[in-house]
Amino acid sequence: MCGIVGYVGKNPVLDILLDGLEQLEYRGYDSSGIAVKCKDNINVYKAVGKLKNLREELTPHAYEISKSTSGIGHIRWATHGAPTVVNAHPHTCNCGNLVVVHNGIIENYVQLKAKLEARGCVFRSQTDTETVAHLIALKYGETKDLTKAVALATKEVEGAYALEVMHNDEPDKLVITKRNAPLIIGIGEDGYYAASDIPAFIKHTNKAIYLSDNQIATLTPQSLKIQDENGAEITPKIEQLPWEPVALSKMGYKHYMLKEIHEQPDVIRNILVGKLHTSDSPVKLDEVKLTKENLKDLTRIQVIACGTSLHAAMIGKYLIEDLCSIPVDVEASSEYIYRKTVTDSKTLVIGVSQSGETADTLTAIKQAKEKGSHILIITNRPDSAMAREADSLLSVNAGIEVSVAATKSYIAQLTSFYLLALYMAEIKGTTPADVLKKLKSEMLILPQKIEQILANKEHIQKCARKYSSTRDFIYIARGINYPTALEGALKLKEISYINATGYPAGELKHGPIAMLDEIMPVLSILMKGSVYEKILSNSEEARARNAQMIALTNSDDSKLENLFDFIIHVPDVDEMLSPILAIVPLQLIAYYIAEFLGKDVDQPRNLAKSVTVE
Ligand code: M6R
Repeated sequence: MCGIVGYVGKNPVLDILLDGLEQLEYRGYDSSGIAVKCKDNINVYKAVGKLKNLREELTPHAYEISKSTSGIGHIRWATHGAPTVVNAHPHTCNCGNLVVVHNGIIENYVQLKAKLEARGCVFRSQTDTETVAHLIALKYGETKDLTKAVALATKEVEGAYALEVMHNDEPDKLVITKRNAPLIIGIGEDGYYAASDIPAFIKHTNKAIYLSDNQIATLTPQSLKIQDENGAEITPKIEQLPWEPVALSKMGYKHYMLKEIHEQPDVIRNILVGKLHTSDSPVKLDEVKLTKENLKDLTRIQVIACGTSLHAAMIGKYLIEDLCSIPVDVEASSEYIYRKTVTDSKTLVIGVSQSGETADTLTAIKQAKEKGSHILIITNRPDSAMAREADSLLSVNAGIEVSVAATKSYIAQLTSFYLLALYMAEIKGTTPADVLKKLKSEMLILPQKIEQILANKEHIQKCARKYSSTRDFIYIARGINYPTALEGALKLKEISYINATGYPAGELKHGPIAMLDEIMPVLSILMKGSVYEKILSNSEEARARNAQMIALTNSDDSKLENLFDFIIHVPDVDEMLSPILAIVPLQLIAYYIAEFLGKDVDQPRNLAKSVTVE
């Protein structure tokens, strides 16, 4: 859950590394560091905190580094050892000749450390990574060949890693390898790049090679050699990346989160292209590789995910059960992997993940695969580890999401669940055609409706300002919008650090109502449909305890004026599709509150965009 970047070539390396790390800041941002080959030595520079601290640390050294054309960099989300300068990467061997950056976790580092200390290695940090630096250095002492040293050392390492290694005695050579962690090589005109993710080098090249587990690549300014774990040379597959560097700019918005919220109408439009043309034509989902017979044979569906993706999965359950009459269980991946689950070949297992890298979900998917289930992955990253496990791959195509708080990827996951449920319902014939037709025709106009909500954002901003000094926030809803309440609360918690909780409205009176008083805001998600009257009476119960009442509604019911202190209207919509509209004002409330409070919206404390540790 860190970001690594490296370069060997003809161009000055400093800006390449720093710009690359900036693009990887979503992976962690508690400390950072670089190692660059200078005249006689490899110099290491590190700083605690955001990347700007490293930039400041480097200012007095800019001249000595200016001619360097090879180096490696790291941005950290601490797992082993606190975020300090000593624990920041790159790590070095005893003499400082060998430098390493690492993403992942070395699981046998305690045993390795004991062995290495017995051989005279002196440890300075509390990290697992330092073991790798010493281990490769010892192997280098025996082989005098950096590639061989990395190959020998990694045979003794257990766990997950993407490694980039340089040695002072082999200048302008970068050796990289990986196991269960992403590592991609960028092929530039003037050199080679290596990074945890494409944004780190996309502005320099869109030609890339995805390194496979246990492969070792040796990069120099003029050459690239990839070997398998037995040393046999491999001819790599060079891919043309469909990425535009512009995707990584804020496009005039103050934060990526606000930009990404505004991209949501287009995200839905993009997903629907080729899949849903008109309300009269069937949904086309060629990505689903289950035959009609397979679909009919399914006895159940399990959906596994974490965080925001878990909330999308919960809405998926409502849709699939309602439209397809198949029982669906939704479970947090971290819970799924540590219990005996009833998963078999008649179970469809759906993994949902923006990043496609989340360790808990990846492990859960692998477990389900071993039990013979068909694995369907819904992800924003068709190039991810999870995508590679998929029997059916639904790529949500939301474009790169930079802000740690997921917004457009959530809308994209929801849209994909709607398409999947409609598709399966059409095949299974479980819902009358006129119901499906109405849903499809409403889906096609959802983007315009979101645009109407966004056009009304000043009103939502006023609501956010009014409640920005609150310490707690309650969201209530029922039915298909209960997950919307959970997601709205998660958004607020993660970027404003306000204690926000989502409840099924009917549960309020079973405990949470005790917390209500005249300063507690309660936001009711009141969408017209089967549970509207029920939520209304739950809202009255809350009002009777003097809570500050906010309504998020598509109703023009005049009763609401007396009951609520603040009303946010969204366009009218079918109840089943209402989660797609209801979440947008909640994203904006979270955004504006965090902004009023001066929080670091795109990079909230203690979080990282992709969580590659269990
Ligand atoms: O990449 P994933 O969708 O698997 O990530 C799961 C969660 O870590 C993620 O949704 C997290 O909760 C977000 N920060 C929510 O905004």
